[in-house]
Amino acid sequence: WLQYRPLQNAEHLSTYQKQVQFITLPGQSATSEIIQEELHLALGKMLGTSPEFSNSPDPETTLIIGTRGQLPDLSARVAEETWSNLDAEGFIIQSIQYNGENTLWITGNTDQALLYGTFDFLKLLQTHQDISSLDIISIPKTKIRVLNHWDNPDRTVERGYAGASIWDWHRLPDYIKPQYIDYARANASIGINGTVLTNVNANAQVLTPYFLKKVAALADTFRPYGIKVYLTARFSAPIETGGLDTADPLNPDVQKWWNKKVNEIYDYIPDFGGFLVKADSEGQPGPQNYGLTQAEGANMLAKALQPHQGIVMWRAFVYNNETPDDRAKQAYNEFKPLDGEFEDNVLVQVKNGAIDFQPREPFHPLFGAMPKTPLMMEFQITQEYLGQGTHLVFLGSLFEEVLGTDTYAKGPGSTVAKVVDGSLDNHSLSGMAGVSNIGTDRNWTGHQFGQANWYAFGKLAWNPDEDASTIAQEWLRMTFGNDEELVTKGKRIMLQSHEAAVNYMTPLGLHHIMGWSHHYGPGPWVTDKHRDDWTSTYYHQAGPDGIGFDRTASGSNALSQYAPEIQQQYGDLNTCPEKYLLWFHHLPWDYKMKSGNALWNEIALHYQKGVDQTQSMLADWESIKNHVDDQRYDQVLTFLQIQHNEAIWWKDACLLYFQQFSQKPLPEGVPQPE
Ligand code: GCU
Repeated sequence: WLQYRPLQNAEHLSTYQKQVQFITLPGQSATSEIIQEELHLALGKMLGTSPEFSNSPDPETTLIIGTRGQLPDLSARVAEETWSNLDAEGFIIQSIQYNGENTLWITGNTDQALLYGTFDFLKLLQTHQDISSLDIISIPKTKIRVLNHWDNPDRTVERGYAGASIWDWHRLPDYIKPQYIDYARANASIGINGTVLTNVNANAQVLTPYFLKKVAALADTFRPYGIKVYLTARFSAPIETGGLDTADPLNPDVQKWWNKKVNEIYDYIPDFGGFLVKADSEGQPGPQNYGLTQAEGANMLAKALQPHQGIVMWRAFVYNNETPDDRAKQAYNEFKPLDGEFEDNVLVQVKNGAIDFQPREPFHPLFGAMPKTPLMMEFQITQEYLGQGTHLVFLGSLFEEVLGTDTYAKGPGSTVAKVVDGSLDNHSLSGMAGVSNIGTDRNWTGHQFGQANWYAFGKLAWNPDEDASTIAQEWLRMTFGNDEELVTKGKRIMLQSHEAAVNYMTPLGLHHIMGWSHHYGPGPWVTDKHRDDWTSTYYHQAGPDGIGFDRTASGSNALSQYAPEIQQQYGDLNTCPEKYLLWFHHLPWDYKMKSGNALWNEIALHYQKGVDQTQSMLADWESIKNHVDDQRYDQVLTFLQIQHNEAIWWKDACLLYFQQFSQKPLPEGVPQPE
């Protein structure tokens, strides 16, 4: 989306050229230099112009980019309260009369804010907006907007589908790949201000000086773009790399070891962001090993980071597959009682749903349930359960759906977005994490449209209330061009793609029926003796009597973890949204749906609908061939064909499997598997 395609629209071309002719940019920092370079690149490519830059406003100035402090004369135009609301990252883009001229003004409190404003201004040009009378104020609603790379030191990427890790550890710290700069530009352009470089399952090696030197080189590279680096901290690091015989958080030697380790990290990276921790989950060590709580574990690390203003992002993805308890309930049971027990610099990072990045899940019951603790959203951008590197699934729709859902935690209107941005419970610390889909693939994300998911994540982290349709449209215009047919059809493809995937994978609340371990393709029959939650029917519970996971009071009662309004709505078959029906209810095959169809028929029709949707996505793509370069066109086309064939695979496999229990024929309109 930073291609800066040459402008073809003659009307805009001359207006834009005029507006950017003389640019005043008083800043002297590395960030100011980046602003200047980006403008040179973008305006040169888009408009064929090479603007003149000056340090202070002169009568000819057409575009002024300066902070409040750099422009004392102009700053009185903005109310004191607005300056204070802008804080360090918010920006203003405003049309003003200056020396009798129509001038544009990009301002904020820091050079970083100006960089964000500059990218936003360039977006207006890229998307052919009218810039004659602008009055934009944009302030990020969440503080910490981070990518989580699940990248291992050996450059494999857990659940990565876009090549190897972009962190070329072997050549760091000396060699700074140009990709790191482009990575930083791309992130800064969408407001991402942090990156966790290492996998949540990575070993403690990443905390040793050998690595820290390399991490410091990346931190130096990203700093002027406003991006902080963070690392994952393996709980047992004091044993593995520190020579201690325990990692017990209450042991003074362990606390001392972490304090020292953290001081050492800050010697290398003075603005180090902090730690992301996966503990007591899927084989990772944690405080439970010492009979202690998640808060006791998190607080030990938090204390070590406090003198440096670092934070801990402590993941709530804690479950034990050996307990008979419904996995959907475990994180809530573990964390809810700890509300109020975490240090101030701890955020609990919660996946959007209680199982695991499924094509669709109801929101995680912890959202709204821990008012005294800042809860960070964890979305997965890489499409582990959503067709990985080959299926086109625009996640903006998924993110929007989750963020817009009402938790009722403080009555109607208590959306997940308000929990996450901290406004519901007045938290000043807030954040959103996205598990990155970036790798060494030439197009960064494996699938061209994977970039849209990275883009959408950044936009929604900045403003969790932004709508997916606007985001899709912006991204398409910047990435493929402004032709109206291309945008209309491209948007139609993107906006139906998530629902399509849900239909052909896990309709009506079904979940976790993917192939074992790799999670690609159907596998409702899967059996793994080692895992209680991987018996063949655990998640879908299909049998002769019906299908679905009863999470009401007659079943696991996971529903009781939600606010009463949700319990009532989802618990009652008349009001439970059908998209969550089989998540919460176990129902007979001939249960009558709102459409009048029997449940079995409805399931089959949803699978078929998913197949049909991939067909129409394919047709839409074919019809815009003339607007897309051959290379990208062909790749996307091939992937859409794969997606369509695999939608049929999903439909056939799941229906044949479930049919052995339903013992019913396929309804009209759903062809027999070939
Ligand atoms: C999923 C994923 C794992 C990952 C885990 C996590 O279960 O399959 O690879 O480690 O999530 O979020 O920690």
